[in-house]
Amino acid sequence: MQKLAAVNDDDFDRPKGIQRARRLPDPKLGALWDSIILKDSLKAQLLSQAMLNFTVRGKIDRTVIPLHGVILLVGPPGTGKTSLARGLAHRTAESFQGGGFRLLEVEPHALTSSAMGKTQRAVSELFSQSIAESAAAGPTIVLLDEVETLAADRSKMSLEANPIDIHRATDAVLVQLDALAERHPNLLFLATSNFPQAVDAAFTSRCDLVVHVPLPDREACLRILKDCLIGLGKTYPAIGKLPTMAGFDRCAAECVGLDGRAIRKMVANALASSPQTAMNPERVKVDDLLAAASAAKAARMSGGKTP
Ligand SMILES: Nc1ncnc2c1ncn2[C@@H]1O[C@H](COP(=O)(O)OP(=O)(O)OP(=O)(O)O)[C@@H](O)[C@H]1O
Ligand SMILES: [Mg+2]
Repeated sequence: MQKLAAVNDDDFDRPKGIQRARRLPDPKLGALWDSIILKDSLKAQLLSQAMLNFTVRGKIDRTVIPLHGVILLVGPPGTGKTSLARGLAHRTAESFQGGGFRLLEVEPHALTSSAMGKTQRAVSELFSQSIAESAAAGPTIVLLDEVETLAADRSKMSLEANPIDIHRATDAVLVQLDALAERHPNLLFLATSNFPQAVDAAFTSRCDLVVHVPLPDREACLRILKDCLIGLGKTYPAIGKLPTMAGFDRCAAECVGLDGRAIRKMVANALASSPQTAMNPERVKVDDLLAAASAAKAARMSGGKTP
């Protein structure tokens, strides 16, 4: 295993803009990957593209295929993008045994600053120093969550909110991505966004793969709901039996239109359907789930406002 400079433990001394750093593989992240219910083909596509980054990129000239080592996950809030990205980092590292991988999680909001020019400098330093150093020491995966904050669409900027600084930050991200792609084939960025239309087109163009993470379909809703109830069943056995009860399929059907996060939260709402159930969650019934799912859907339809 390669020796990793400046990393003695998880969460080592973090440079500005790095929210968290950890060694991979990390079984906790493997559990996250498994918990996100998505078409197997989509998960396989993500994993294959991430693996290819570490097998092929160092061997193929960029004039043949100009890979940048960036995968972008886009989709509505709560569809599992961040969890998938973390899980993917783990699964990729796990595929290369003894690879000495690590995961750096970038906090974009820590980089953006109201002081003119500071964002650009912070972005340049993060990429050219912290990330480059990690990539020089060993295979590195970088999570760029909410990437529209860092690579904002320059064509849509208003003159308010310090647009020149943000414009320059996007420029810096693009310049740095090009430089890193040239020098560090063992580096992979996993970016996420709820607002693909707010991400600069030149950033998207540099992505090796853009994957749309959809809202769960009926089958996926059923599986998410089951997974949640079976999970609760470890603590409250009666709840684990709800998926076998009459009417359960209707609950799953009622969830269509909700994202995975909303489905799991809806279950918590059902457990809170009365003070008695909240005190003793095993009292929850299929009807409580159905009512909570209908209420969550109604709230969603009205844009979160009370009808
Ligand atoms: N497809 C899914 N299958 C199972 N659980 C899901 C799914 N999608 C979301 N979840 C649940 O929702 C929670 C939130 O997921 P996550 O934070 O990864 O979503 P996100 O897409 O990054 O959201 P945001 O865009 O708001 O940042 C997860 O903890 C997970 O339990
Ligand atoms: Mg997220």
